[in-house]
Amino acid sequence: MELRHLRYFVTVVAEQSFTKAAEKLFIAQPPLSRQIQDLEEEIGVQLLERGSRPLKPTQAGQFFYQHALKLLASSEQAVAMTKRIGTDETIFRMGFVGSLLFGLLPRIIYLYRKQHPHLKIELLEMGTLEQFNALKEGRIDVGFGRLRKSDPAIKRILLRNEKLLVAVHSSHPLATKSSQGVHLQELVNENIYVYLGTPKTDILNLFAEYGLEPKTIIELREIQLALGLVAADEGISIIPKSASTIVLRDLHYLPLLNPEAVTPIFMSIRTMEDNKYIDSLLDTIQGIYKTENIK
Ligand code: BEZ
Repeated sequence: MELRHLRYFVTVVAEQSFTKAAEKLFIAQPPLSRQIQDLEEEIGVQLLERGSRPLKPTQAGQFFYQHALKLLASSEQAVAMTKRIGTDETIFRMGFVGSLLFGLLPRIIYLYRKQHPHLKIELLEMGTLEQFNALKEGRIDVGFGRLRKSDPAIKRILLRNEKLLVAVHSSHPLATKSSQGVHLQELVNENIYVYLGTPKTDILNLFAEYGLEPKTIIELREIQLALGLVAADEGISIIPKSASTIVLRDLHYLPLLNPEAVTPIFMSIRTMEDNKYIDSLLDTIQGIYKTENIK
């Protein structure tokens, strides 16, 4: 059995179809089916329920699928880590979602660079899912993001839960509540702009936790777009507190009073990672949290 067989089998199960898996793997369907048959013959067990639509693994196939995922992840990690160890110059690559630049990320990078003057630090802006792939392929060593996703090859460390704020236009009736703050209940009839970093599903779930359903939520790519539209009085926005450093004319920020109104900040690394620079980065972050009085 070769890694190729595992990759083929995992793709067929994930896609629930030979046709779709063959397209994804850039091979024709007949050789793909043959490879899966070879695998079944080698193990001596049927792995897929033939004739099922969509295609399903047998009980044994489901067991094998979970283990095949782990084997593939660990082989990718072994390659990524070997490549890193094999290079003379130590490069430390960080992936991050853009909106984190409005909060503590610049300070973290600045201090970390000072602590490691000989380390070549590279910064790459990318979404959370892209960070997962980049970690597995060894293109980054650490990723910072907010999405609540999991992957067997990735270890996620919750750094903190950051408070959410509401952004409104200065002429909006809620703008008078700058010092008191607002409850989610008061926002349900508004046009709410959100951005990919704190996505629509997370905001809908937040409202749902309080038995509420907002009328209109519009998801935009970037936080600047959401806040720009609020400054034009097109609606309101819900953003992480750290992004309230963005100043635009007529833009007002209000505290969101519901205790669950928070957004997580995760640090993602490879599960098998053993890198002293990651431990040191965590120390830097903890030091900053201490000086900023962040729990
Ligand atoms: C933070 O704001 O807590 C943070 C931002 C980026 C990376 C790590 C932590």
